[in-house]
Amino acid sequence: MQVHTTIASLRAARAHAGRVAFVPTMGNLHDGHIALVREAARHADTVIASIFVNRLQFGPREDFDKYPRTFEADREKLAAAGVAHLFAPTEAAMYPQPQSYHVDPDPGQASILEGACRPGHFRGVATVVLKLFNIVEPEAALFGKKDYQQFMVLRNMARELALPIEIIAGETVRAADGLALSSRNGYLTASERAEAPRLYRQLAAIAAAVRQGARDHAGLEAAAIAELERHGWRPDYLSVRRRADLQAPRQPDETLVVLAAARLGTTRLIDNIEI
Ligand code: PAJ
Repeated sequence: MQVHTTIASLRAARAHAGRVAFVPTMGNLHDGHIALVREAARHADTVIASIFVNRLQFGPREDFDKYPRTFEADREKLAAAGVAHLFAPTEAAMYPQPQSYHVDPDPGQASILEGACRPGHFRGVATVVLKLFNIVEPEAALFGKKDYQQFMVLRNMARELALPIEIIAGETVRAADGLALSSRNGYLTASERAEAPRLYRQLAAIAAAVRQGARDHAGLEAAAIAELERHGWRPDYLSVRRRADLQAPRQPDETLVVLAAARLGTTRLIDNIEI
Protein backbone atom coordinates (compact mmCIF):
# COMPACT_ATOMS: atom_id res chain seq x y z
CA MET A 1 0.00 0.00 0.00
CA GLN A 2 1.29 3.41 -0.95
CA VAL A 3 0.68 6.36 1.36
CA HIS A 4 0.17 9.78 -0.22
CA THR A 5 0.25 12.97 1.79
CA THR A 6 -0.11 15.41 -1.10
CA ILE A 7 -2.82 15.84 -3.73
CA ALA A 8 -0.24 15.65 -6.53
CA SER A 9 1.11 12.31 -5.36
CA LEU A 10 -2.34 10.76 -5.02
CA ARG A 11 -3.38 12.03 -8.46
CA ALA A 12 -0.26 10.61 -10.12
CA ALA A 13 -0.99 7.16 -8.63
CA ARG A 14 -4.71 7.33 -9.40
CA ALA A 15 -4.01 7.87 -13.10
CA HIS A 16 -2.93 4.21 -13.39
CA ALA A 17 -5.46 2.70 -10.99
CA GLY A 18 -8.28 1.64 -13.34
CA ARG A 19 -11.76 1.52 -11.84
CA VAL A 20 -11.50 2.95 -8.30
CA ALA A 21 -13.74 2.51 -5.27
CA PHE A 22 -13.10 5.07 -2.54
CA VAL A 23 -13.58 4.82 1.25
CA PRO A 24 -13.15 8.16 3.04
CA THR A 25 -12.53 8.02 6.80
CA MET A 26 -11.27 10.08 9.71
CA GLY A 27 -9.08 7.22 10.96
CA ASN A 28 -9.10 5.37 14.30
CA LEU A 29 -10.30 2.48 12.21
CA HIS A 30 -12.44 -0.43 13.41
CA ASP A 31 -14.21 -3.35 11.74
CA GLY A 32 -16.98 -1.05 10.42
CA HIS A 33 -14.45 0.84 8.31
CA ILE A 34 -12.74 -2.38 7.23
CA ALA A 35 -16.09 -3.87 6.14
CA LEU A 36 -16.50 -0.84 3.84
CA VAL A 37 -13.04 -1.48 2.39
CA ARG A 38 -13.87 -5.14 1.72
CA GLU A 39 -17.17 -4.18 0.11
CA ALA A 40 -15.32 -1.57 -1.98
CA ALA A 41 -13.05 -4.28 -3.40
CA ARG A 42 -16.14 -5.97 -4.87
CA HIS A 43 -16.90 -2.86 -6.93
CA ALA A 44 -13.53 -1.92 -8.44
CA ASP A 45 -10.01 -2.89 -9.51
CA THR A 46 -8.43 -0.62 -6.94
CA VAL A 47 -9.50 0.54 -3.48
CA ILE A 48 -8.36 3.97 -2.34
CA ALA A 49 -8.99 4.99 1.27
CA SER A 50 -8.42 8.32 2.94
CA ILE A 51 -7.72 9.37 6.51
CA PHE A 52 -8.33 13.02 7.26
CA VAL A 53 -9.83 14.49 10.42
CA ASN A 54 -11.85 17.23 8.80
CA ARG A 55 -11.93 20.37 10.89
CA LEU A 56 -14.81 21.83 8.83
CA GLN A 57 -17.36 19.32 10.12
CA PHE A 58 -16.65 19.82 13.83
CA GLY A 59 -18.50 22.50 15.79
CA PRO A 60 -16.53 24.94 17.97
CA ARG A 61 -17.27 22.93 21.13
CA GLU A 62 -16.85 19.48 19.56
CA ASP A 63 -14.01 16.96 19.83
CA PHE A 64 -11.76 17.97 16.88
CA ASP A 65 -8.63 18.33 19.02
CA LYS A 66 -9.17 15.17 21.03
CA TYR A 67 -10.48 13.07 18.12
CA PRO A 68 -8.37 9.85 18.32
CA ARG A 69 -5.46 9.80 15.85
CA THR A 70 -3.93 6.31 15.48
CA PHE A 71 -2.18 6.47 12.12
CA GLU A 72 0.23 3.53 12.37
CA ALA A 73 -2.44 1.04 13.47
CA ASP A 74 -4.81 2.39 10.81
CA ARG A 75 -2.21 2.02 8.10
CA GLU A 76 -1.64 -1.63 8.99
CA LYS A 77 -5.36 -2.42 8.99
CA LEU A 78 -5.90 -0.81 5.58
CA ALA A 79 -2.89 -2.56 4.04
CA ALA A 80 -4.09 -5.92 5.41
CA ALA A 81 -7.57 -5.28 3.98
CA GLY A 82 -6.19 -4.77 0.48
CA VAL A 83 -6.18 -0.98 0.06
CA ALA A 84 -3.80 0.00 -2.75
CA HIS A 85 -3.48 3.71 -1.99
CA LEU A 86 -4.02 5.60 1.24
CA PHE A 87 -4.53 9.34 0.93
CA ALA A 88 -3.58 10.88 4.27
CA PRO A 89 -3.15 14.57 3.57
CA THR A 90 -1.83 17.06 6.05
CA GLU A 91 -4.11 19.93 7.02
CA ALA A 92 -1.92 22.20 4.89
CA ALA A 93 -2.38 19.95 1.84
CA MET A 94 -6.18 19.88 2.16
CA TYR A 95 -6.70 23.44 3.38
CA PRO A 96 -3.67 25.51 2.27
CA GLN A 97 -5.84 28.51 2.94
CA PRO A 98 -9.08 28.60 4.93
CA GLN A 99 -11.76 26.90 2.82
CA SER A 100 -14.02 29.70 1.60
CA TYR A 101 -16.13 27.81 -0.98
CA HIS A 102 -18.55 25.29 0.51
CA VAL A 103 -21.24 22.82 -0.47
CA ASP A 104 -24.49 23.89 1.15
CA PRO A 105 -26.76 20.84 1.38
CA ASP A 106 -30.55 21.17 1.26
CA PRO A 107 -31.53 22.40 4.76
CA GLY A 108 -34.60 20.14 4.61
CA GLN A 109 -32.16 17.22 4.80
CA ALA A 110 -29.13 18.72 6.51
CA SER A 111 -30.71 20.88 9.23
CA ILE A 112 -32.84 18.16 10.81
CA LEU A 113 -31.80 15.44 13.32
CA GLU A 114 -27.95 15.48 13.36
CA GLY A 115 -27.95 18.80 11.53
CA ALA A 116 -30.22 20.41 14.14
CA CYS A 117 -27.85 19.31 16.93
CA ARG A 118 -24.66 20.07 14.99
CA PRO A 119 -25.24 23.22 12.91
CA GLY A 120 -22.99 23.31 9.84
CA HIS A 121 -21.91 19.69 10.28
CA PHE A 122 -23.20 18.41 6.93
CA ARG A 123 -21.90 21.50 5.13
CA GLY A 124 -18.44 20.54 6.41
CA VAL A 125 -18.95 16.87 5.47
CA ALA A 126 -20.29 17.63 1.98
CA THR A 127 -17.51 20.14 1.30
CA VAL A 128 -14.67 17.80 2.25
CA VAL A 129 -16.25 14.82 0.50
CA LEU A 130 -16.72 16.76 -2.76
CA LYS A 131 -13.10 17.93 -2.48
CA LEU A 132 -11.91 14.36 -1.84
CA PHE A 133 -14.00 13.17 -4.80
CA ASN A 134 -12.33 15.77 -7.02
CA ILE A 135 -8.90 14.61 -5.88
CA VAL A 136 -9.50 10.83 -6.05
CA GLU A 137 -11.97 10.80 -8.98
CA PRO A 138 -13.44 7.44 -7.97
CA GLU A 139 -16.06 5.52 -9.95
CA ALA A 140 -17.70 4.43 -6.68
CA ALA A 141 -17.62 5.59 -3.05
CA LEU A 142 -18.77 3.78 0.07
CA PHE A 143 -20.42 5.15 3.20
CA GLY A 144 -21.78 3.35 6.25
CA LYS A 145 -25.45 3.28 7.20
CA LYS A 146 -24.25 3.90 10.77
CA ASP A 147 -24.25 7.57 9.70
CA TYR A 148 -27.57 7.29 7.94
CA GLN A 149 -28.21 10.97 7.38
CA GLN A 150 -24.65 11.50 6.15
CA PHE A 151 -25.16 8.76 3.57
CA MET A 152 -28.43 10.36 2.44
CA VAL A 153 -26.95 13.87 2.17
CA LEU A 154 -23.96 12.59 0.17
CA ARG A 155 -26.07 10.39 -2.10
CA ASN A 156 -28.31 13.38 -2.86
CA MET A 157 -25.30 15.66 -3.37
CA ALA A 158 -23.92 13.24 -5.95
CA ARG A 159 -27.30 13.09 -7.71
CA GLU A 160 -28.03 16.80 -7.72
CA LEU A 161 -24.53 17.80 -8.80
CA ALA A 162 -24.42 15.01 -11.42
CA LEU A 163 -21.22 13.53 -10.01
CA PRO A 164 -20.18 10.48 -12.08
CA ILE A 165 -19.79 8.44 -8.89
CA GLU A 166 -21.88 5.52 -7.64
CA ILE A 167 -22.64 6.05 -3.94
CA ILE A 168 -22.86 2.70 -2.14
CA ALA A 169 -24.11 2.05 1.41
CA GLY A 170 -22.47 -0.43 3.81
CA GLU A 171 -24.38 -2.13 6.63
CA THR A 172 -23.67 -1.06 10.21
CA VAL A 173 -21.14 -3.31 11.95
CA ARG A 174 -21.91 -3.94 15.64
CA ALA A 175 -20.21 -5.40 18.70
CA ALA A 176 -21.67 -8.70 19.94
CA ASP A 177 -23.91 -6.82 22.41
CA GLY A 178 -25.39 -4.65 19.64
CA LEU A 179 -23.41 -1.44 20.14
CA ALA A 180 -22.58 0.07 16.75
CA LEU A 181 -18.81 0.29 16.33
CA SER A 182 -17.62 3.89 16.50
CA SER A 183 -14.38 5.72 17.09
CA ARG A 184 -16.19 7.58 19.86
CA ASN A 185 -16.82 4.33 21.80
CA GLY A 186 -13.23 4.68 22.99
CA TYR A 187 -14.30 7.70 25.07
CA LEU A 188 -16.66 5.53 27.19
CA THR A 189 -15.71 4.46 30.71
CA ALA A 190 -16.09 0.74 31.54
CA SER A 191 -19.49 1.28 33.16
CA GLU A 192 -20.68 3.49 30.29
CA ARG A 193 -19.54 0.84 27.81
CA ALA A 194 -21.70 -1.71 29.65
CA GLU A 195 -24.69 0.68 29.48
CA ALA A 196 -24.11 1.79 25.86
CA PRO A 197 -25.99 -1.06 24.04
CA ARG A 198 -29.24 0.18 25.57
CA LEU A 199 -29.48 2.70 22.72
CA TYR A 200 -29.47 -0.13 20.16
CA ARG A 201 -31.90 -2.19 22.26
CA GLN A 202 -34.40 0.69 22.40
CA LEU A 203 -34.16 1.19 18.63
CA ALA A 204 -34.52 -2.55 18.03
CA ALA A 205 -37.61 -2.68 20.26
CA ILE A 206 -39.25 0.17 18.32
CA ALA A 207 -38.35 -1.44 14.99
CA ALA A 208 -39.91 -4.71 16.14
CA ALA A 209 -43.07 -3.00 17.41
CA VAL A 210 -43.56 -1.04 14.17
CA ARG A 211 -42.97 -4.16 12.08
CA GLN A 212 -45.70 -5.86 14.10
CA GLY A 213 -48.12 -3.06 13.25
CA ALA A 214 -47.70 -0.44 16.00
CA ARG A 215 -48.68 2.96 14.59
CA ASP A 216 -48.24 5.23 17.62
CA HIS A 217 -44.72 6.33 16.74
CA ALA A 218 -44.84 9.30 19.10
CA GLY A 219 -45.76 7.06 22.02
CA LEU A 220 -42.97 4.60 21.24
CA GLU A 221 -40.44 7.41 20.86
CA ALA A 222 -41.45 9.05 24.16
CA ALA A 223 -41.26 5.73 26.05
CA ALA A 224 -37.78 4.99 24.66
CA ILE A 225 -36.53 8.49 25.50
CA ALA A 226 -37.87 8.15 29.05
CA GLU A 227 -36.20 4.76 29.43
CA LEU A 228 -32.84 6.15 28.28
CA GLU A 229 -33.17 9.15 30.60
CA ARG A 230 -33.94 6.80 33.51
CA HIS A 231 -30.55 5.20 32.88
CA GLY A 232 -28.62 8.45 32.80
CA TRP A 233 -28.69 9.23 29.08
CA ARG A 234 -29.40 12.67 27.64
CA PRO A 235 -31.09 11.99 24.29
CA ASP A 236 -30.88 14.63 21.53
CA TYR A 237 -33.50 12.91 19.36
CA LEU A 238 -35.06 9.51 18.84
CA SER A 239 -37.40 9.46 15.90
CA VAL A 240 -39.13 7.20 13.37
CA ARG A 241 -38.69 8.70 9.88
CA ARG A 242 -39.21 7.62 6.32
CA ARG A 243 -36.02 6.31 4.73
CA ALA A 244 -36.27 8.28 1.51
CA ASP A 245 -35.75 11.77 2.97
CA LEU A 246 -35.81 11.36 6.78
CA GLN A 247 -39.02 13.37 7.05
CA ALA A 248 -41.92 12.29 9.28
CA PRO A 249 -43.84 9.39 7.71
CA ARG A 250 -47.07 10.35 5.91
CA GLN A 251 -48.30 7.25 4.07
CA PRO A 252 -48.78 3.82 5.64
CA ASP A 253 -46.70 2.04 2.97
CA GLU A 254 -43.46 4.05 3.35
CA THR A 255 -40.23 2.27 4.32
CA LEU A 256 -38.99 3.59 7.63
CA VAL A 257 -35.89 3.98 9.76
CA VAL A 258 -35.64 4.84 13.45
CA LEU A 259 -32.71 7.11 14.32
CA ALA A 260 -31.31 8.36 17.60
CA ALA A 261 -28.53 10.39 19.14
CA ALA A 262 -27.91 10.54 22.86
CA ARG A 263 -25.19 11.53 25.27
CA LEU A 264 -23.87 9.07 27.83
CA GLY A 265 -21.56 10.96 30.17
CA THR A 266 -19.57 13.20 27.85
CA THR A 267 -19.81 10.87 24.85
CA ARG A 268 -22.39 11.41 22.13
CA LEU A 269 -23.49 8.20 20.43
CA ILE A 270 -25.68 7.82 17.33
CA ASP A 271 -27.39 4.77 15.87
CA ASN A 272 -30.30 3.77 13.67
CA ILE A 273 -32.16 0.70 12.45
CA GLU A 274 -34.05 0.27 9.20
CA ILE A 275 -37.55 -0.98 9.90
P1 PAJ B 1 -15.71 8.20 9.95
O1 PAJ B 1 -16.53 8.48 11.17
O2 PAJ B 1 -14.28 7.81 10.11
O3 PAJ B 1 -16.44 7.08 9.14
C1 PAJ B 1 -15.95 6.67 7.88
C2 PAJ B 1 -16.98 5.76 7.25
O4 PAJ B 1 -17.16 4.60 8.06
C3 PAJ B 1 -18.36 6.45 7.15
O5 PAJ B 1 -18.95 6.14 5.90
C4 PAJ B 1 -19.12 5.82 8.30
O6 PAJ B 1 -20.52 5.79 8.10
C5 PAJ B 1 -18.53 4.41 8.29
N1 PAJ B 1 -18.75 3.73 9.58
C6 PAJ B 1 -18.48 4.19 10.83
N2 PAJ B 1 -18.87 3.30 11.75
C7 PAJ B 1 -19.42 2.24 11.09
C8 PAJ B 1 -20.00 1.00 11.49
N3 PAJ B 1 -20.10 0.64 12.77
N4 PAJ B 1 -20.46 0.17 10.51
C9 PAJ B 1 -20.35 0.51 9.20
N5 PAJ B 1 -19.80 1.67 8.76
C10 PAJ B 1 -19.34 2.51 9.69
O7 PAJ B 1 -17.94 9.57 8.49
C11 PAJ B 1 -16.83 10.10 8.49
O8 PAJ B 1 -15.70 9.49 8.99
C12 PAJ B 1 -16.61 11.48 7.91
O9 PAJ B 1 -17.77 12.24 8.09
C13 PAJ B 1 -16.19 11.47 6.42
C14 PAJ B 1 -17.27 10.86 5.52
C15 PAJ B 1 -14.86 10.71 6.24
C16 PAJ B 1 -15.95 12.94 5.94
O10 PAJ B 1 -14.99 13.58 6.73
